[in-house]
Amino acid sequence: MATATTKSKQRSIKPPKVKDQPLFIGGKWQDSVSGKTFPTINPATGETICQVAEGDKADVDLAVKAARKAFEEGPWPKMSAAERGRLLNKLADLIEAHKEELAALETLNNGKPLRDSLNADLPLVIKCYRYYAGWADKVHGKTIPVEGPYFCYTRHEPVGVVGQIIPWNFPLLMQAWKWGPALATGCTVVLKPAEQTPLTALRVAALAQEAGFPDGVLNVVPGYGPTAGAAISEHMDIDKVAFTGEYTTGQLVMAAAAKSNLKRVSLELGGKSPNVVFADADLDAAVEGAYFGLFFNQGQCCCAGSRLFVEEKIHDQFVEKVLKKAKAQKVGDPFDPETTQGPQISQEQFDRIMSYIEAGKKEGAKMLCGGSRIGNRGYFIEPTVFSEVKDEMKIAREEIFGPVMNILKFKDVNEVLRRGNQTFYGLAAAVWTRDITKAHRLANGLRAGTVWVNCYDVFDSAAPFGGYKMSGFGRELGEYALELYTEVKTVYVNLGG
Ligand code: NAI
Ligand code: MG
Repeated sequence: MATATTKSKQRSIKPPKVKDQPLFIGGKWQDSVSGKTFPTINPATGETICQVAEGDKADVDLAVKAARKAFEEGPWPKMSAAERGRLLNKLADLIEAHKEELAALETLNNGKPLRDSLNADLPLVIKCYRYYAGWADKVHGKTIPVEGPYFCYTRHEPVGVVGQIIPWNFPLLMQAWKWGPALATGCTVVLKPAEQTPLTALRVAALAQEAGFPDGVLNVVPGYGPTAGAAISEHMDIDKVAFTGEYTTGQLVMAAAAKSNLKRVSLELGGKSPNVVFADADLDAAVEGAYFGLFFNQGQCCCAGSRLFVEEKIHDQFVEKVLKKAKAQKVGDPFDPETTQGPQISQEQFDRIMSYIEAGKKEGAKMLCGGSRIGNRGYFIEPTVFSEVKDEMKIAREEIFGPVMNILKFKDVNEVLRRGNQTFYGLAAAVWTRDITKAHRLANGLRAGTVWVNCYDVFDSAAPFGGYKMSGFGRELGEYALELYTEVKTVYVNLGG
């Protein structure tokens, strides 16, 4: 465990000043081909932090050329697996050495409280790179006893040039989940960070260059989805695309992959995760976990427990405790160490969340607190709690991605299992109970990629994460993620006679 950064230490960390940013292609820092730039915004103020070179198809083409060259020639394909692991460890060391700088940059660009960047995002990022550093020289095939005079073996080879498109909610962490396994297996990368949060991806690219990754192995092309993002998913010379974001965007990425070169696709597409609290649960722990499971990261989590099913018997008691927590939430300047909730990422997301709050009121859910904007600059929203939420309401079906908790009542196990699964998503779920039978019935019965029992949002680099149904496919993290970045080659050797 990395030690938590103290509040007095946090107080000394100020929002950094940032210069205008170029693209990173083939080891060079350069302007976009078009010469265009776009502003990146501080969501706490709505003000421009700096201009960023705007990548487009032409820049993606250059990045893919650089990544292809690095994959086929030069030091990267000749490098031993152990050496790749050493580079990944060096990158982890450099990130650790620049931990406070990176946390401040993440908070400036994303708005998440500095205490979270420092004590959650950065430690997870560092561990993820170290974890995959360890895998680099442990990716190997099998020897297979086939019939006939043949020696048969498999090789797990890197899939090639990979395109990676990531969202804005955990910029550094999503980059680590994508880069760790891609580099461990020997791929080369073209990454498009989200247009809202390009800054830390570029900073980590500079640290990777300092660590000694050869030119072209890692390329970062900031830009918009329909231009730079689409150029990646439809590129004829990208072998695989990994995407995290909205399911409708995932559909576009997959369609583009299908229509171009049938590149391999992995998708992580959000959810509407059921979080089930039984009357026999440790109530305080359940309240704490349910609160954290929804409000963490301003509610901008793909696995947010956004359908909170509470057993009828304890409903009122539960609601009372949750409201106390919501009222104690400190919303404001993300650099203030006391702040527990920062701004939403953008005006667009702010408007979208406010429209869900309106929909909740209109459809007859009971708004117990919150519901309004805070202040007149930045994108701050009060922590909002709805009770009397019904399964068919919009706020119970669609991903809100904001600080809006929806509480639904239930009576028994079979009912909540059925209702919990009534969604086209299947990313995560949780259950709170002291009854081991109920816990396992739900853990088995809920159709979701991760189920937490008496906990929420537990993540570890070693354990896979990903979705069922329209939450996507493929598993990131752990040994499973290596499959996303490797091809299996079968070799038969005639032994004669
Ligand atoms: P999005 O899915 O549009 O954006 C995610 C990434 O995809 C960004 O890098 C974006 O530039 C890129 N992108 C957008 N259009 C593309 C295209 N046509 N081709 C290739 N790449 C493209 O998500 P957005 O619009 O930022 O947020 C909308 C909603 O999506 C949120 O309210 C939330 O419900 C969900 N979301 C889910 C996330 C998750 O972790 N699963 C992360 C971010 C958003
Ligand atoms: Mg979008």
